[in-house]
Amino acid sequence: MDKKLNANLLILAWFDHNKRILPWRNTKDPYKIWLSEIILQQTRVQQGIAYYERFISHFPILEMLARADENQVLKLWQGLGYYSRARNLHATAKYLYLHEDSIFPDNSQDLKKLKGIGDYTASAIASICYNEVTPALDGNMYRVFARYFGLYDDISEPATKKKFFALGKEIIDRERPGDFNQAVMDLGAMICTPQNYKCEACPLNESCFALQKNVQNKLPVKLKKITIKNRYLHFIYIHHQHLFLLMQRDDKDVWAKLFSLPKVESRKADDVPIFHRDYDDKCRFLYEETHLLSHQRLHIKFWELEVNEQSLSDLKAFWKAEIVSYQDLERYALPKPIEKFMDLRIFD
Ligand code: ADE
Repeated sequence: MDKKLNANLLILAWFDHNKRILPWRNTKDPYKIWLSEIILQQTRVQQGIAYYERFISHFPILEMLARADENQVLKLWQGLGYYSRARNLHATAKYLYLHEDSIFPDNSQDLKKLKGIGDYTASAIASICYNEVTPALDGNMYRVFARYFGLYDDISEPATKKKFFALGKEIIDRERPGDFNQAVMDLGAMICTPQNYKCEACPLNESCFALQKNVQNKLPVKLKKITIKNRYLHFIYIHHQHLFLLMQRDDKDVWAKLFSLPKVESRKADDVPIFHRDYDDKCRFLYEETHLLSHQRLHIKFWELEVNEQSLSDLKAFWKAEIVSYQDLERYALPKPIEKFMDLRIFD
C-alpha cells in the first residue's frame, strides 16, 4: 500500500483506541477549541487542562472573556509565561465581540487574520470545528513525518514548512481532518516523543524509516540555534511593615503589563544598582537567581529597603507605583520570579 495512505489509516485507527480524554475533545465550539489551542502552545497537556478549566469556569462564553478586565485575564494566565499570548487572546475576544457578533470565522484563511492566530492555530480550529482539510503543522507533526518518511530537511527553514504542509495535505484524512490532526498530536506526545520514544507501541512501527535505520534521535533535523541574551535585573522590595510598592510593567519588555517590584537594569553582572540616590546605602541584598526565557537569560537580584511611612509615600511617587499588602496580591498577575519572591516573604 502507498506509504502515505498507510500512515493515514494506521494513525487514525490508533487514535480511535488510544486517544486522550481531554475536556475540549467533546466540543466543536470554536471559542473552546481556540482557547485550548492557545493555552496548549504554552504548556503541556497535563498542566494545560487546569488552566483551560479555570478560564472556562470564569469565562464560559466568548462575551465574558471579551468583557473581562485585562488584569483578570493576565492573572488567570499567571505561570504560563509569554504574556503576549494572553493579551492577544483578550484582544481577539474583544474584537469578535465588538465587530463580529462574537462569531468566529469558519475557515483557516480568515481565522489567520485574527491577532494571535497563526497557521497552526488556524488549521487546528478550522479542522476540528469546521472539518476543513488542512494540516495543523506543529512540532509533533514535524517529528512524526520526519521520522516515518526519513526527511532530513532542516525544520527551522521556511521551505521545509511548505514541504511538510504539502505532505500533511496529502496524508490528512478527508473525512475526519480534525481527528487526524489531533491523532498526530497524541502520537507525538505519547509515542513518538523527542526522547524515550516508544516505538514498540507505535502503530507505524512496521514501516517507519527512523526505526528501521535506528536514527530516531537524528530526526527531525533542526539547525538554527537561537541566540540567548544575558540581562541583569535588580528588583527591590521597598516596604514599610507589610505594605510595599508594586508597579505595572510597561508593554514593551518581557512580562509586559504584569505587576512587579520596582526594577533597574545594569549592563554587567557585578554592577551595583542605583535605585534612588537618597536610599541606596540602605538597600540590602537578599538573593539572586537566573530565570530562562525563550530568548533571554535573566540574572535577577532581589534587594530590600525598609522605610518609614513618609518615605514609602515619596518612593511610591518616584516609581509611579502602588502601595499594596500581601492580601492584595491575588488580584495582580506576577511574573514567576516575583511570585516566588513573594511566597518566600510571606513566610519569613
Ligand atoms: N496540543 C495542542 N492542541 C492539542 C489538542 N487539540 N489535542 C492534544 N494535544 C494538543
